[in-house]
Amino acid sequence: MFTVGMRLPSLPVLPTRLRAPQPGWAETTDVVVVGSGVAGLTAALHLREAGLHVTVVTKVNIDDGSTRWAQGGIAAVLDPYDTPAAHAEDTLIAGVGLCDPAAVEVLVNEGPTRVRELMRWGAEFDRNADGSLMLTREGGHHANRIVHAGGDATGAEVQRALHAAVRRDPWIRLVEHALVLDLLRDDAGRACGVTLHVLGEGTEEGVGAILGRAVVLATGGMGQAYAVTTNPVVSTGDGVALALRAGAAVTDLEFVQFHPTALVTSAETAQQPLVSEALRGEGAYLRDGDGKRFMVGQHDLAELAPRDVVAKAIHRVLLAEGSTNVWLDARHLGADFLEGRFPTIMASCRAAGIEPTTNLIPVAPAAHYASGGVRTDLRGRTSIPGLYACGEVACTGVHGANRLASNSLLEGLVFARRIATDLATDLPAQSDPVSDDVRRPSDDVREWAVDPAVRRPLQLAMSRGAGVLRSATSLAAAAGTLTELGARRAPSNLASWEATNLVTVAAALVAAAACRRETRGCHWRDDFPASRGEWRGHLLATVTNAGALTESWEELA
Ligand code: SIN
Repeated sequence: MFTVGMRLPSLPVLPTRLRAPQPGWAETTDVVVVGSGVAGLTAALHLREAGLHVTVVTKVNIDDGSTRWAQGGIAAVLDPYDTPAAHAEDTLIAGVGLCDPAAVEVLVNEGPTRVRELMRWGAEFDRNADGSLMLTREGGHHANRIVHAGGDATGAEVQRALHAAVRRDPWIRLVEHALVLDLLRDDAGRACGVTLHVLGEGTEEGVGAILGRAVVLATGGMGQAYAVTTNPVVSTGDGVALALRAGAAVTDLEFVQFHPTALVTSAETAQQPLVSEALRGEGAYLRDGDGKRFMVGQHDLAELAPRDVVAKAIHRVLLAEGSTNVWLDARHLGADFLEGRFPTIMASCRAAGIEPTTNLIPVAPAAHYASGGVRTDLRGRTSIPGLYACGEVACTGVHGANRLASNSLLEGLVFARRIATDLATDLPAQSDPVSDDVRRPSDDVREWAVDPAVRRPLQLAMSRGAGVLRSATSLAAAAGTLTELGARRAPSNLASWEATNLVTVAAALVAAAACRRETRGCHWRDDFPASRGEWRGHLLATVTNAGALTESWEELA
């Protein structure tokens, strides 16, 4: 079992602040929201309802995060024959003993109201002929409880509706092309803004500061730490890296969810097209190289077993066959149904030269979702006063060791609203003129900016050493490569700060995966193939002032 002080793999000394010029300008708001996906925009809209001024900063354009790529939908109890208790049970089973039951209660009970609110903000979900919401099923769910839009374009519709609602409010200031760098803290240690590097119009270009009475991180995931991922190119773990540099607690990073069915194409792209689990929910089969439905007999839900179970089964087939993909068979669903229900998947397959109405679809697991992240309580508060987190960057406790399908957009909606409620009642007065000391807390800046050229070798090392299947040996190899790559320095700029973030989150992930000497949920250890009762708990990572990564253990009752 993990004991405090156990030796971690040899990892790079991590930065406690990015090397950047003194902020050349500063703006003030009430709340700084970092990120513009479902969690960030929902937080902004609710904060405005509470009468607060909000500035949303986002790395590229408002719509460039993961939300718009979500296909399957949003899980919520909207069928009179379904119950929050049943949704909670499926969530807890998928999380394999590590979900926080209180957080899950919040999620399933508040979820339906948040989905209806999203509809009031303009989101249009698919409906049956009688006008009722069309509900489908995905892996791990025992009921049809997933709302979807445009067939398999749910995330795009959610993003469209939230984007439009945000644009309608002139009091939400949006700063695009702004990479967040570091958290600013006042003399009492409370978060009071961020430094960021802005490229572009409307705000002065270069490094500046946005000062506020609280900061909400909603920066999404870190899938770009892997060579094969469904995440967009912007998902470089910026929020988790910022939180680690600031000394916040980060947890459960070893639980990277690999989506079982990303499309395998010959193109080398930064983001693989997703083939939604909803396709299996509507009856598609998984077949091995001999055409056999290998999930039948492995789990009572067969192809609709929880994601970790299906991803592991596929990985075993790949190892046994020495192949790079298994096959998804949707031919029997019929052309009309496939065109109407899955237009996005049909388009991605056809773009890759695959015709799903007549051919099998080649699929394999890809890094998809960080179940862990910046540790929060039920109000979205992190271990740093004034710093909040929601969405994929956060670890609220709802996902445990493996996220249940379509719980992620829901989590963003539910916990963003909780943060706004907390801030509406608990926001301190603006601190008096922010001194240069606050803007720039210390002169002790480490020479830390990583060569952007390390991105691909880092991704390959992570996929090899910390992928679907890991072992002490593979993790040690990944750690060694990270140390070597982290030492390759470059001048500070956007690309090197992103590379620094990738090294930071990858190192923390590898450390946690090496510590957890068991198999649980989406953390699969070749050398410790079973779940172990003494490992029912969480690893909490923090970075010390000297840049050392430390892990502490929190046992569950
Ligand atoms: C999918 O459509 O399979 C992905 C949904 C999710 O990640 O929850």
